[in-house]
Amino acid sequence: MKAVIPVAGAGTRLRPHTLTTPKPLLPVAGKPIIDHIIESISDLKFDSLILVTGPDNGEIFTHVKTTWRGKFEVLRAVQDEKLGLGHAIFQARNFFERGEDIFIILGDTIIEGKFSDLVEQKKDFLAVKKVEDPSSYGIVEIDEDGHIVSLEEKPQHPKSNLAIVGVYYVSDAAALFEAVQYIIANDIKTKNEYQITDALKKMVESGWIFYTREIDNWYDCGRVSEILKTNRFLLQKRGGYMDKSVKIENSIIIDPVFIDRGAKITNSIIGPYVHISTGVSFENTMVKNSIILENADVEDSHLEMSIVGKNAKVKGAPLKLNIGDYSELDMKR
Ligand code: G1P
Repeated sequence: MKAVIPVAGAGTRLRPHTLTTPKPLLPVAGKPIIDHIIESISDLKFDSLILVTGPDNGEIFTHVKTTWRGKFEVLRAVQDEKLGLGHAIFQARNFFERGEDIFIILGDTIIEGKFSDLVEQKKDFLAVKKVEDPSSYGIVEIDEDGHIVSLEEKPQHPKSNLAIVGVYYVSDAAALFEAVQYIIANDIKTKNEYQITDALKKMVESGWIFYTREIDNWYDCGRVSEILKTNRFLLQKRGGYMDKSVKIENSIIIDPVFIDRGAKITNSIIGPYVHISTGVSFENTMVKNSIILENADVEDSHLEMSIVGKNAKVKGAPLKLNIGDYSELDMKR
């Protein structure tokens, strides 16, 4: 089986960080989002992973190829124009033979759920979760046999509260690509984009049977507040880590925290729920519930619910901060 992860989105709600780092490569709880996603489907035994990237972000492809070397083949399809998720998936069509199955998982949400039984039985399905604000998602309606009877992308008047979480399995990829081709050829758009939801709706209308699988957990990474919440949940659930090379002097570490290579912590209180990338330095600082990226330098600060970009220098910062790579903030002069 081949898995597809579309990662061409701009990640605008996570700026400034996504101006310099593609969203799937932003770390939460010790590793980039994309690696959590791949890990979550590692029991599926796919032999190729196709990343659908934008024309520029080869960085994600290189990262996945290097990190997962020897586990599966990594291929790349390029979406030149951002015309929607359906259009993104369509770019992977040439990698599939008729009759081959396809597993799709979106590149921005970390989920916990089991799908291998359905995949082994070649049962077409969409992963779902009950939500309180269904009009923000693709929504499915099911009948008493558990078959999907209707789908709608971000409806104003949702018929159910079962949201599509972004995991799709189709036992014949060609049928899915044909449905996407149909919506593109007939210019069927929702919210001005070619949606995978509309292609699936077309399949359901022509009698294709889809089941649903409710997932256990869904960790959103779309916004700063959400990614920080995800960081906290995952550290709490899976525990922290500290590299042997970390230098700690006169400081208190409150678990769980993830602290990568070469970090230097002096006269500081770190934790709980902090992700610290390589080479970060803290002095006279308290930090909790935050993500601090590579080589950032933080001094005389008190940070909570903050993301500090790579190589940023922060001095005297009070509480909440969302500061991009190479930025400098000095409240002490
Ligand atoms: C996409 C899908 C939507 C789904 C959502 C899950 O929307 O189109 O059906 O519910 O992902 O996160 P997006 O978040 O890209 O707007």
